[in-house]
Amino acid sequence: MSSQPSPLTPARRGAYFIGDNLDVLREHVPDASVDLVYLDPPFQSGRTYHLYTGVAAEEPGAVAFDDTWAWGEAAARALAALASGGEPIGRALTGLHGFLGPCDMMAYLAMMAPRLVEMRRVLRATGSVFLHCDPTASHYLKVLMDAVFGPDCFRNEIIWRYRRWPARARRFQRMHDVLLFYTREASNEHTFHALYGYEELAESTKKTFGTKKQRADFSAGHRKPGVSDEETKGPPLSDVWEIGVIAAKGKERLGYPTQKPEALLERVILSASNEGDVVLDPFCGSGTTLAVATRLGRRFLGIDRSPESRRVVEGRLGRAFGEAIDWEIVDCAESRPKPLARTDAGRAGERENRSQVA
Ligand SMILES: C[S@@+](CC[C@H](N)C(=O)[O-])C[C@H]1O[C@@H](n2cnc3c(N)ncnc32)[C@H](O)[C@@H]1O
Repeated sequence: MSSQPSPLTPARRGAYFIGDNLDVLREHVPDASVDLVYLDPPFQSGRTYHLYTGVAAEEPGAVAFDDTWAWGEAAARALAALASGGEPIGRALTGLHGFLGPCDMMAYLAMMAPRLVEMRRVLRATGSVFLHCDPTASHYLKVLMDAVFGPDCFRNEIIWRYRRWPARARRFQRMHDVLLFYTREASNEHTFHALYGYEELAESTKKTFGTKKQRADFSAGHRKPGVSDEETKGPPLSDVWEIGVIAAKGKERLGYPTQKPEALLERVILSASNEGDVVLDPFCGSGTTLAVATRLGRRFLGIDRSPESRRVVEGRLGRAFGEAIDWEIVDCAESRPKPLARTDAGRAGERENRSQVA
């Protein structure tokens, strides 16, 4: 539980914290104070990510963040702390440890688990969380999410499908990420707005019903499909989202590795929050969530421990909104990272095509 009042005073649109998100959440974000969490943590890709310099690929810029993990004392402590609590998350993590053993993946999961517990604590009863990951760890993360939120709070596994340069590989090309959507409560009272206008009607539907809104006709005592005079808004958005990655020369590109497209965040924020709501991104990188939340009239809390993130976020929000919004930067850098991650450049080659898209 946080000992501090919320950093979002009624007049303030947002706050961005520099520091380790576990410490920041525990110390600065009160219980039930957030409406929507989107998190895009490292994916356990085994890589160190550098800023893009815009020069040659072999001349990478400064290190933005590290996504390499090794089992060690800190990971063992994180596991023991959760296991001793007797909660489902402790049992889930212990079970995974029994199966995986003390390996890199287990160190990564031991880092994620206490953070997921904090996500749930800070959410309001009507709130939701979208955990962005990829098939490297999505199956293990779903087990952890089930343990923290409860399987009844699972809503969707969203597939973000994109295209990128094919890799040479004796398997199908990897061209999607996964967003696990859970709600704080199972009661169905969470904020949710179905989205329209993103998908075309199926050819077969157009053939049968044209572009008019369909309605069920029960006049004959059974359900008969019919059409009204009204034009349809199209189908409600499904759980497969086709959105392009940010192109190398795209206007959105800020040089921060793994930067996600604004169009992706727009769907998350529009569907699961209302104007004025508080949106939290505890791994906020280049600040995509903060920028889109602000544009859509939401308030934000962002956290990142990378000094490069701070530089990019400051520039991005400054250019987009100038003095028009009141937001603050809170430096919690003394609560610097637990030494769970390690640099192991030797592995980068082995894990080609497991890096996050950007
Ligand atoms: C995949 S990137 C996020 C990219 C972001 N979605 C965007 O659109 O730019 C993950 C971010 O998490 C940050 N990070 C990793 N571990 C963290 C921790 N323990 N506390 C705070 N930030 C962390 C990294 O510095 C990195 O910026």
